[in-house]
Amino acid sequence: MVGLILVACVVLFLGRTGPLGGIMGSWRFESNGEQIYFTGTSQRGTTITPVMEPGMGRMPGSRLTCASCHGADGRGGQVQRMMQVVEVPDIRYETLTADDHGEDEHGHGPYTEETIKRAITEGVDPDGEPLDWPMPRWSMAEEDLDDLVEFLKTLD
Ligand code: HEC
Repeated sequence: MVGLILVACVVLFLGRTGPLGGIMGSWRFESNGEQIYFTGTSQRGTTITPVMEPGMGRMPGSRLTCASCHGADGRGGQVQRMMQVVEVPDIRYETLTADDHGEDEHGHGPYTEETIKRAITEGVDPDGEPLDWPMPRWSMAEEDLDDLVEFLKTLD
């Protein structure tokens, strides 16, 4: 019995961090959307590329992830970027789609599933106004975008 538990631990350990990480990487996350949010990679093997501010160039394969700015819980906050403190918004699905969302200096209405996807890929708010640039524009497959938004729905 103890032996069995030990084996299970070793397998888990190798799966998470060791040589089996590639094969078992998908074990770490409950969904593809969660993996995209935390790692910027898809279980489908499709490419996910953040397009940065003009002049900063593209950063293929960089480890820039949603979580690195919006936080593990999606609630945002203050993030240190390029020697500046950036205010990062709460992007939990519930918050983005709430009736009173955006009643601040931005003055736009609530998001829908479609406009959230557009914000991620085109960097515009529900009114079509550009988002501020620390927010990258993301190029990813439609299915990955669906998975990602499904994951935002699970954040509470
Ligand atoms: C480099 C930091 C950074 C990363 C990485 C990043 N974001 Fe953002 N994001 C921001 C900032 C800053 C804003 C606010 C822009 C503004 O207010 O105009 C933002 C805005 C947003 C918004 C619009 C929120 C609103 O209230 O209008 C959504 C949706 C969003 N991000 C989703 C994502 C997702 C999903 C990812 C990962 C694929 C991601 N972001 C990665 C910094 C980042």
